[in-house]
Amino acid sequence: MQASQAAATPVPTPTSTHSSNQSFRHAKRTAKDYIFGKMIGDGCYSTVFLAKDIHTGKEYAIKVCEKSFIIRQQKVQYIKREKDALNLLSNVPHGFVKLYCTFQDEERLYFVLSYAKNSELLKRINEVGSFEINVAKFYAAELLLALEKMHAKRIIHRDLKPENILLDENMHLKIADFGTVKILNNNNIASDVPIPEDEQNSSNDRSRKVSFVGTAQYVSPELLQHRVDTYASDLWALGCIIYQMISGLPPFRGPTDFLTFQKILKLDYEFPEGFPADAKDLVEKLIVLDHNKRLGASDQGGTYESIRNHPFFEGIDWENIWEQTPPKIS
Ligand code: ADE
Repeated sequence: MQASQAAATPVPTPTSTHSSNQSFRHAKRTAKDYIFGKMIGDGCYSTVFLAKDIHTGKEYAIKVCEKSFIIRQQKVQYIKREKDALNLLSNVPHGFVKLYCTFQDEERLYFVLSYAKNSELLKRINEVGSFEINVAKFYAAELLLALEKMHAKRIIHRDLKPENILLDENMHLKIADFGTVKILNNNNIASDVPIPEDEQNSSNDRSRKVSFVGTAQYVSPELLQHRVDTYASDLWALGCIIYQMISGLPPFRGPTDFLTFQKILKLDYEFPEGFPADAKDLVEKLIVLDHNKRLGASDQGGTYESIRNHPFFEGIDWENIWEQTPPKIS
């Protein structure tokens, strides 16, 4: 990364270079091992920079969080869960950004992640308006396979959306941003500290903040209303994303988040003319108010067979999709 691509917020840049000897490679990394370049992502409590490893020249996406901000905003649990989820997924070969290492200095936490060169799915949808059906089918299939792996590790993402789905150098999909995940234990109960009962229905600030996670347009009714932890919340988002890849826009859109929520709770959306029948049928079976009745919600055995077998996915080679050349986006 050249000096001209300086980071947008002040992150340490190397003042000296280290020789790339064996002992160094095993030492704990610091910010000085990377040259920080342009900002490539921005979240509620973190900023992602493109960075180059000064020893290998390899590019990474480094997520930087200000410790004082995380503590002030009471997001420590979120950061811990994000790291836990990334670690649980670290040996899954496809479908997720990989966490290479973490380190910290006095002010910041750093997550060194794989760099997805071809940016966000949202950008690709917006560039072409909407996807051809074979393109939508391919990325829906990769997303479904990634969800199978993630749910098998007991992780619910809870904020799936085209901004959090990245494309790597070969145009294969990688899910990113695990900042709002829930990790269930063996009994399928969330393993983090529950909210005290007297806070659950109160209208104080803290309970309101925890009662909604995710992004308005893709949030499932159960996350909005009951704070139920279910894998099927990600299946709702899958339905919204399939709709958006084909039509160009998400199904639930309001001028404010509040009005978007009203539409979600009333299942108030329409299909544009010409929306293919198979895709419409699948979306209607995923965007279902009762999370227990969504297609896939009752599937057992680690694969979403009922979704895989839907006619929309006819022709998908589930075993070899990650080795295939993705269809050109048009
Ligand atoms: N934006 C956020 N995370 C990213 C990543 N891992 N690769 C590319 N862009 C990103």
